[in-house]
Amino acid sequence: MNRFAKTALAALMGTVTMAQAAAGPDLPTLVERDGRHALLVDGAPFLVLGGQAHNSSNYPAALPRVWPALKDAHANTLAIPVAWEQVEPREGQFDFSWVDTLVGQARQHKKRLVLLWFGTWKNTGPAYTPEWVKFDNRRFPRMLDKEGKASYCLSPFGEATLAADKRAFVALMEHIKRIDARERTVIMVQVENEVGTYGLARDHAPRAQAAFGQPVPAAVLARQPALPGRPARGSWSEVYGDYAEQYFHAWAIASYIEEIAKAGRAVYDLPMFVNNALRDPGDPGEPGAPPQPARPWKGDFASGGPTWDVLGIYKAAAPHIDFAAPDIYMPESNKVRANLERFARPDNALLVAEMGNAAPYARYVYEIVGRGALGVVPFGIDYASYSNYPLGAKFTDRRMVEPFGAVYAAFAPMARLWARWAFEGRTHGVAEGDDRAPQTIALDGWKASVSFREFQFGERQYLRDKNEYAAGTETPNGGVAIAQTGPGEFVLVGQQARIKLSATLEKPSMYARVEEGRFDAAGKWIMERNWNGDQTDYGLNLPATPTVLKIRMRTVEY
Ligand code: DGJ
Repeated sequence: MNRFAKTALAALMGTVTMAQAAAGPDLPTLVERDGRHALLVDGAPFLVLGGQAHNSSNYPAALPRVWPALKDAHANTLAIPVAWEQVEPREGQFDFSWVDTLVGQARQHKKRLVLLWFGTWKNTGPAYTPEWVKFDNRRFPRMLDKEGKASYCLSPFGEATLAADKRAFVALMEHIKRIDARERTVIMVQVENEVGTYGLARDHAPRAQAAFGQPVPAAVLARQPALPGRPARGSWSEVYGDYAEQYFHAWAIASYIEEIAKAGRAVYDLPMFVNNALRDPGDPGEPGAPPQPARPWKGDFASGGPTWDVLGIYKAAAPHIDFAAPDIYMPESNKVRANLERFARPDNALLVAEMGNAAPYARYVYEIVGRGALGVVPFGIDYASYSNYPLGAKFTDRRMVEPFGAVYAAFAPMARLWARWAFEGRTHGVAEGDDRAPQTIALDGWKASVSFREFQFGERQYLRDKNEYAAGTETPNGGVAIAQTGPGEFVLVGQQARIKLSATLEKPSMYARVEEGRFDAAGKWIMERNWNGDQTDYGLNLPATPTVLKIRMRTVEY
């Protein structure tokens, strides 16, 4: 656990340290316990039910199209860029009026903010650097290939680039502290955006060449050991063979980001993270199976980004970055599962920093928050009349937001409770697979069998036509998240799924209560009705509208 986590955990346990008192008792912070994580906001676990605005919605005139979409989504957090080009258009002259407007409006709309620092790298490129950086390649060098030809990508060895980016980022953090330390509307900061380089594994400029010939730092070796059959220490090529260039580039970029994050946190210590344009997660295998080793880079993803196979290098080189977050645009259910497994590690909190906003992604919210993630942030949640189809939805209006809004609406009133349960390791979740197959959730003393495409009454074998399926299940859209709140007590949230709970000891069991209802803002359960009879005889059949059930199960002695 790092020192940030320790102070925050102390707060969670009821003791406020000197360091915290100085920083303000409730500065957002990330805590870890037994390999699980929580984002503490105002001193308590917080579930990010987020939406990310489109890239160019980072201007005051664009905001009127952002807030209505966030509201329709029932989101509690907006992720939105702060671009280097907009805050330092002329060198050394800072203009944070965008941040002032944004923070002010977020408070009016009762939303938290995750600020995305679009600096040296945005989707690997320099597009968001100010003009005085972008067009001065002598002072702010691009990466070079083996032949000395310049790449589009700024070099992580550019000393002036790092100094300039760092100065702007520190100025931003100082500004946020000045305007927000009391209210803490800004809860996290993403440093750069989807870093790495396409088409080139690493920089070949003289400084990079010199570093590449050096021994791999001990801190890196401790987190990313030598490959089997290779020397335990030595140069990058000696230790990592075919992986050396990618690993070296990951180290170079992570070290650059570390400088920026460390300097920013020294002035205002908010949680910070990086996001990743994913490489293929590989064969997902059985749930929980260890990943097959990743193949060496072959131009098939952005080299040097925080891909799942180099998280150890990022941990070693960038200790001021709390976690690396996946940006999920691979819609296949087995890839989603594999990517979540690759990024949810005891040393890496899971936040889905971006996800497609097309309807099929909405069901993954159950799987993500059920896994105990800090939260989820579909991308393009604004009404800017821009669609990033085929990555996301074709629609740019309410129809795009609705599938997420329905799920978020079910979680929103209990988001704080859910985040606490997740931190305590009580939560689980599944999304309907592309194969539509049943899935099992192992609970403490119980198991939940989840099936999809069922009619609400009766069993499949009763049907005359075995190929008949319930309306509205033509494409996969089911999902269930379960929190086990006591020995036989559960809170279940889901849609388009049938759940059967049974005791693992093979004892007969019955529902004591299956209450449908909701939690109010104070966390108090409001029962609306009790399910019984047809509504429980064939499992708990959740309709298309996300539904919250509070269940008590008991075993029966005959
Ligand atoms: C991932 C990037 O991080 C986003 O900023 C955006 O460019 C999407 N891809 C595509 O819409």
